[in-house]
Amino acid sequence: GRVVVLAGGLSHERDVSLRSGRRVAEALRGAGTETEVLDVDSRLLERLAADRPACVVPMLHGETGEDGAVREVLELLDLPYVGAAPVACRTAFDKPTAKAVVARAGVHTPASVCLPHETFRELGAGKVMSAIVDRLGLPLMVKPARSGSALGCSVVRSPADLPHAMVDAFAYGALTLVERFVAGTEVAVGVVDDGSGPRALSPVSIHPDGGVYDYTARYTAGSTEFRVPATLSEELAAECARVAVLVHETLGLRDLSRSDLIVDADGVVWFLEANVAPGFTETSTVPLAVQADGLDLGRLCASLVAGATA
Ligand code: DAL
Ligand code: MG
Repeated sequence: GRVVVLAGGLSHERDVSLRSGRRVAEALRGAGTETEVLDVDSRLLERLAADRPACVVPMLHGETGEDGAVREVLELLDLPYVGAAPVACRTAFDKPTAKAVVARAGVHTPASVCLPHETFRELGAGKVMSAIVDRLGLPLMVKPARSGSALGCSVVRSPADLPHAMVDAFAYGALTLVERFVAGTEVAVGVVDDGSGPRALSPVSIHPDGGVYDYTARYTAGSTEFRVPATLSEELAAECARVAVLVHETLGLRDLSRSDLIVDADGVVWFLEANVAPGFTETSTVPLAVQADGLDLGRLCASLVAGATA
Protein backbone atom coordinates (compact mmCIF):
# COMPACT_ATOMS: atom_id res chain seq x y z
CA GLY A 1 0.00 0.00 0.00
CA ARG A 2 0.83 3.67 -0.11
CA VAL A 3 3.18 5.16 2.49
CA VAL A 4 3.02 8.74 3.74
CA VAL A 5 6.17 10.34 5.15
CA LEU A 6 5.39 13.20 7.53
CA ALA A 7 7.92 16.02 7.35
CA GLY A 8 8.30 19.75 7.91
CA GLY A 9 5.97 20.97 10.60
CA LEU A 10 6.62 24.10 12.60
CA SER A 11 9.44 23.10 14.95
CA HIS A 12 12.85 24.77 14.84
CA GLU A 13 14.03 21.71 12.94
CA ARG A 14 11.55 22.14 10.08
CA ASP A 15 14.20 22.43 7.36
CA VAL A 16 16.10 19.42 8.63
CA SER A 17 12.88 17.42 8.73
CA LEU A 18 12.03 18.30 5.12
CA ARG A 19 15.46 17.04 4.08
CA SER A 20 15.08 13.83 6.11
CA GLY A 21 11.55 13.26 4.79
CA ARG A 22 12.60 13.65 1.16
CA ARG A 23 15.50 11.25 1.64
CA VAL A 24 13.33 8.57 3.25
CA ALA A 25 10.66 8.98 0.54
CA GLU A 26 13.25 8.65 -2.24
CA ALA A 27 14.68 5.56 -0.59
CA LEU A 28 11.24 3.96 -0.23
CA ARG A 29 10.37 4.76 -3.85
CA GLY A 30 13.70 3.22 -4.89
CA ALA A 31 12.57 0.05 -3.13
CA GLY A 32 9.33 0.08 -5.12
CA THR A 33 7.03 1.58 -2.48
CA GLU A 34 4.53 4.24 -3.56
CA THR A 35 5.41 7.11 -1.22
CA GLU A 36 4.26 10.66 -0.66
CA VAL A 37 5.76 13.38 1.56
CA LEU A 38 3.21 15.32 3.57
CA ASP A 39 4.25 18.69 5.00
CA VAL A 40 2.47 18.80 8.34
CA ASP A 41 0.02 21.65 8.91
CA SER A 42 -3.39 22.21 10.51
CA ARG A 43 -5.09 19.97 7.95
CA LEU A 44 -3.09 16.89 8.95
CA LEU A 45 -5.93 15.04 10.67
CA GLU A 46 -8.40 15.72 7.89
CA ARG A 47 -5.94 14.69 5.16
CA LEU A 48 -4.87 11.45 6.84
CA ALA A 49 -8.47 10.54 7.65
CA ALA A 50 -9.43 10.98 3.98
CA ASP A 51 -6.28 9.33 2.58
CA ARG A 52 -5.87 6.41 4.98
CA PRO A 53 -2.34 5.41 3.86
CA ALA A 54 -1.19 1.85 4.57
CA CYS A 55 1.58 3.20 6.81
CA VAL A 56 2.93 6.53 8.06
CA VAL A 57 6.60 7.33 8.60
CA PRO A 58 6.90 10.32 10.98
CA MET A 59 10.13 12.11 10.01
CA LEU A 60 9.26 15.16 12.08
CA HIS A 61 12.10 16.39 14.24
CA GLY A 62 11.76 18.47 17.39
CA GLU A 63 8.64 19.49 19.23
CA THR A 64 5.25 17.93 18.21
CA GLY A 65 7.27 15.54 16.03
CA GLU A 66 9.47 13.77 18.54
CA ASP A 67 7.48 14.55 21.70
CA GLY A 68 4.77 12.12 20.61
CA ALA A 69 2.01 14.65 19.87
CA VAL A 70 1.63 13.84 16.17
CA ARG A 71 1.79 10.12 16.94
CA GLU A 72 -1.23 10.60 19.22
CA VAL A 73 -3.07 11.72 16.09
CA LEU A 74 -1.95 8.56 14.26
CA GLU A 75 -3.18 6.48 17.20
CA LEU A 76 -6.54 8.30 17.13
CA LEU A 77 -6.88 7.55 13.43
CA ASP A 78 -5.76 3.96 14.00
CA LEU A 79 -3.06 4.24 11.32
CA PRO A 80 0.07 2.06 11.48
CA TYR A 81 3.31 4.05 11.74
CA VAL A 82 7.03 3.45 12.03
CA GLY A 83 8.60 4.34 15.36
CA ALA A 84 7.94 4.63 19.06
CA ALA A 85 4.53 5.13 20.66
CA PRO A 86 3.56 8.58 22.04
CA VAL A 87 4.33 7.84 25.69
CA ALA A 88 7.81 6.53 24.88
CA CYS A 89 8.44 9.56 22.68
CA ARG A 90 7.49 11.89 25.54
CA THR A 91 9.95 10.16 27.84
CA ALA A 92 12.76 10.11 25.29
CA PHE A 93 12.31 13.65 24.01
CA ASP A 94 12.48 15.18 27.48
CA LYS A 95 16.23 15.01 28.11
CA PRO A 96 16.09 15.20 31.96
CA THR A 97 13.51 12.38 32.06
CA ALA A 98 15.37 10.22 29.55
CA LYS A 99 18.62 10.67 31.50
CA ALA A 100 16.96 9.64 34.77
CA VAL A 101 15.35 6.56 33.21
CA VAL A 102 18.50 5.25 31.53
CA ALA A 103 20.62 6.04 34.62
CA ARG A 104 18.39 3.65 36.60
CA ALA A 105 19.26 0.97 34.05
CA GLY A 106 22.95 1.51 34.82
CA VAL A 107 23.84 3.76 31.87
CA HIS A 108 26.25 6.63 32.63
CA THR A 109 24.92 10.09 31.90
CA PRO A 110 26.57 13.39 32.87
CA ALA A 111 25.52 14.91 36.21
CA SER A 112 23.04 17.71 35.57
CA VAL A 113 20.56 20.19 36.92
CA CYS A 114 17.33 21.24 35.34
CA LEU A 115 16.35 24.88 35.48
CA PRO A 116 12.91 26.35 34.78
CA HIS A 117 12.87 29.84 33.30
CA GLU A 118 10.90 31.18 36.28
CA THR A 119 13.63 30.15 38.71
CA PHE A 120 16.25 31.79 36.52
CA ARG A 121 14.22 35.01 36.47
CA GLU A 122 13.41 35.00 40.19
CA LEU A 123 16.86 34.17 41.52
CA GLY A 124 18.80 36.10 38.90
CA ALA A 125 21.72 34.95 36.80
CA GLY A 126 24.34 35.50 39.51
CA LYS A 127 22.81 33.24 42.18
CA VAL A 128 21.87 30.56 39.69
CA MET A 129 25.34 30.60 38.25
CA SER A 130 27.16 30.14 41.54
CA ALA A 131 24.75 27.40 42.69
CA ILE A 132 25.25 25.46 39.46
CA VAL A 133 29.01 25.89 39.33
CA ASP A 134 29.27 24.84 43.03
CA ARG A 135 27.36 21.68 42.25
CA LEU A 136 28.67 20.65 38.85
CA GLY A 137 31.98 22.47 38.41
CA LEU A 138 33.21 23.64 35.01
CA PRO A 139 33.05 23.28 32.05
CA LEU A 140 29.32 22.86 31.55
CA MET A 141 27.05 22.01 28.65
CA VAL A 142 23.88 24.11 28.53
CA LYS A 143 20.97 22.97 26.36
CA PRO A 144 17.22 23.27 25.99
CA ALA A 145 15.60 20.33 27.82
CA ARG A 146 13.42 19.54 24.79
CA SER A 147 14.92 20.29 21.43
CA GLY A 148 17.27 18.88 18.82
CA SER A 149 20.01 19.50 16.27
CA ALA A 150 22.11 21.27 18.93
CA LEU A 151 20.00 24.41 18.65
CA GLY A 152 20.45 26.61 21.74
CA CYS A 153 23.35 24.48 23.04
CA SER A 154 26.61 25.91 24.30
CA VAL A 155 29.69 24.90 26.22
CA VAL A 156 30.40 27.12 29.20
CA ARG A 157 34.03 27.29 30.31
CA SER A 158 33.87 30.31 32.60
CA PRO A 159 31.09 31.38 35.00
CA ALA A 160 30.75 34.67 33.13
CA ASP A 161 29.51 32.77 30.04
CA LEU A 162 26.71 30.98 31.86
CA PRO A 163 23.95 33.63 31.79
CA HIS A 164 24.31 34.16 28.05
CA ALA A 165 24.28 30.42 27.40
CA MET A 166 21.10 30.10 29.44
CA VAL A 167 19.36 32.88 27.57
CA ASP A 168 20.23 31.06 24.32
CA ALA A 169 18.81 27.78 25.65
CA PHE A 170 15.63 29.42 27.04
CA ALA A 171 14.93 30.76 23.54
CA TYR A 172 13.93 27.18 22.66
CA GLY A 173 11.76 26.39 25.66
CA ALA A 174 10.96 27.08 29.30
CA LEU A 175 13.26 24.39 30.69
CA THR A 176 17.04 24.31 30.45
CA LEU A 177 19.34 21.40 31.19
CA VAL A 178 22.81 22.13 32.50
CA GLU A 179 25.16 19.17 32.37
CA ARG A 180 28.71 18.59 33.41
CA PHE A 181 30.62 18.79 30.11
CA VAL A 182 32.27 15.49 29.21
CA ALA A 183 35.24 15.79 26.88
CA GLY A 184 35.73 12.95 24.44
CA THR A 185 34.59 11.50 21.13
CA GLU A 186 30.97 11.97 20.11
CA VAL A 187 29.47 8.74 18.85
CA ALA A 188 26.03 8.21 17.30
CA VAL A 189 24.50 4.74 17.23
CA GLY A 190 21.37 3.91 15.26
CA VAL A 191 19.15 1.06 16.43
CA VAL A 192 16.76 -0.69 14.06
CA ASP A 193 14.17 -3.38 14.64
CA ASP A 194 12.12 -4.72 11.75
CA GLY A 195 10.47 -7.34 13.94
CA SER A 196 13.38 -9.58 14.85
CA GLY A 197 14.52 -7.51 17.85
CA PRO A 198 16.55 -4.30 18.18
CA ARG A 199 20.06 -4.35 16.75
CA ALA A 200 22.63 -1.58 16.59
CA LEU A 201 24.03 -0.24 13.34
CA SER A 202 27.75 0.46 13.28
CA PRO A 203 28.64 3.29 15.66
CA VAL A 204 29.69 6.49 13.84
CA SER A 205 32.29 8.79 15.40
CA ILE A 206 31.88 12.49 14.79
CA HIS A 207 34.80 14.86 14.19
CA PRO A 208 33.65 18.44 13.48
CA ASP A 209 36.27 20.65 11.74
CA GLY A 210 35.73 23.43 14.28
CA GLY A 211 35.67 21.02 17.25
CA VAL A 212 32.00 21.74 18.04
CA TYR A 213 29.15 19.69 16.54
CA ASP A 214 26.69 22.58 16.31
CA TYR A 215 23.82 23.15 13.84
CA THR A 216 26.17 24.36 11.07
CA ALA A 217 28.59 21.48 11.59
CA ARG A 218 25.64 19.08 11.42
CA TYR A 219 24.08 20.23 8.20
CA THR A 220 26.82 21.84 6.09
CA ALA A 221 28.34 19.21 3.81
CA GLY A 222 32.06 18.82 4.41
CA SER A 223 32.22 20.63 7.76
CA THR A 224 32.34 17.47 9.86
CA GLU A 225 34.14 14.20 9.33
CA PHE A 226 32.09 11.10 10.12
CA ARG A 227 33.97 7.85 10.63
CA VAL A 228 32.49 4.37 10.24
CA PRO A 229 33.97 2.26 11.63
CA ALA A 230 34.22 4.75 14.46
CA THR A 231 37.63 5.81 15.74
CA LEU A 232 37.29 3.55 18.79
CA SER A 233 38.68 0.20 19.87
CA GLU A 234 36.53 -2.79 18.96
CA GLU A 235 35.61 -3.21 22.65
CA LEU A 236 34.46 0.40 22.96
CA ALA A 237 32.52 0.26 19.70
CA ALA A 238 30.76 -2.86 20.99
CA GLU A 239 30.07 -1.12 24.30
CA CYS A 240 28.52 1.86 22.46
CA ALA A 241 26.31 -0.56 20.50
CA ARG A 242 25.29 -2.34 23.72
CA VAL A 243 24.40 0.97 25.41
CA ALA A 244 22.34 2.13 22.40
CA VAL A 245 20.29 -1.08 22.39
CA LEU A 246 19.85 -0.89 26.17
CA VAL A 247 18.67 2.73 25.88
CA HIS A 248 16.25 1.76 23.08
CA GLU A 249 14.77 -0.99 25.24
CA THR A 250 14.79 0.93 28.53
CA LEU A 251 12.97 3.90 27.02
CA GLY A 252 10.45 1.55 25.41
CA LEU A 253 11.33 2.68 21.89
CA ARG A 254 10.27 0.86 18.75
CA ASP A 255 11.50 0.25 15.17
CA LEU A 256 14.12 2.98 14.97
CA SER A 257 16.12 5.25 17.26
CA ARG A 258 19.53 6.81 17.58
CA SER A 259 21.48 7.32 20.78
CA ASP A 260 24.01 10.12 21.01
CA LEU A 261 26.94 9.23 23.24
CA ILE A 262 30.33 10.53 24.35
CA VAL A 263 33.27 8.23 24.97
CA ASP A 264 35.73 9.87 27.35
CA ALA A 265 39.49 9.35 27.65
CA ASP A 266 38.98 6.63 30.30
CA GLY A 267 36.73 4.65 27.96
CA VAL A 268 33.51 5.48 29.81
CA VAL A 269 30.46 5.68 27.52
CA TRP A 270 28.13 8.55 28.49
CA PHE A 271 24.54 8.85 27.28
CA LEU A 272 23.54 12.33 26.08
CA GLU A 273 20.19 11.75 24.41
CA ALA A 274 17.99 9.47 22.33
CA ASN A 275 16.26 10.51 19.10
CA VAL A 276 12.96 8.89 18.14
CA ALA A 277 13.04 10.40 14.65
CA PRO A 278 16.76 10.48 13.86
CA GLY A 279 17.87 12.66 10.95
CA PHE A 280 18.09 11.11 7.49
CA THR A 281 19.70 14.09 5.73
CA GLU A 282 22.77 13.80 3.49
CA THR A 283 24.93 14.61 6.53
CA SER A 284 23.07 12.52 9.13
CA THR A 285 24.73 9.55 10.78
CA VAL A 286 22.05 6.82 10.48
CA PRO A 287 22.10 6.69 6.65
CA LEU A 288 25.92 6.61 6.78
CA ALA A 289 25.88 3.66 9.14
CA VAL A 290 23.28 1.87 7.01
CA GLN A 291 25.53 2.24 3.97
CA ALA A 292 28.67 1.22 5.87
CA ASP A 293 26.89 -1.90 7.10
CA GLY A 294 26.22 -2.89 3.49
CA LEU A 295 22.48 -2.39 3.84
CA ASP A 296 20.26 -0.66 1.31
CA LEU A 297 18.48 2.38 2.76
CA GLY A 298 15.33 1.76 0.72
CA ARG A 299 15.13 -1.89 1.68
CA LEU A 300 15.73 -1.04 5.35
CA CYS A 301 12.97 1.61 5.33
CA ALA A 302 10.66 -0.82 3.52
CA SER A 303 11.37 -3.50 6.14
CA LEU A 304 10.55 -1.04 8.94
CA VAL A 305 7.27 -0.23 7.16
CA ALA A 306 6.57 -3.94 6.75
CA GLY A 307 7.32 -4.49 10.45
CA ALA A 308 5.00 -1.65 11.48
CA THR A 309 2.11 -2.90 9.38
CA ALA A 310 2.52 -6.60 10.24
N1 DAL B 1 17.48 16.07 15.70
C1 DAL B 1 18.17 15.67 14.48
C2 DAL B 1 17.25 15.58 13.35
C3 DAL B 1 18.90 14.41 14.68
O1 DAL B 1 19.00 14.01 15.80
O2 DAL B 1 19.37 13.82 13.73
MG1 MG C 1 18.68 15.09 18.92
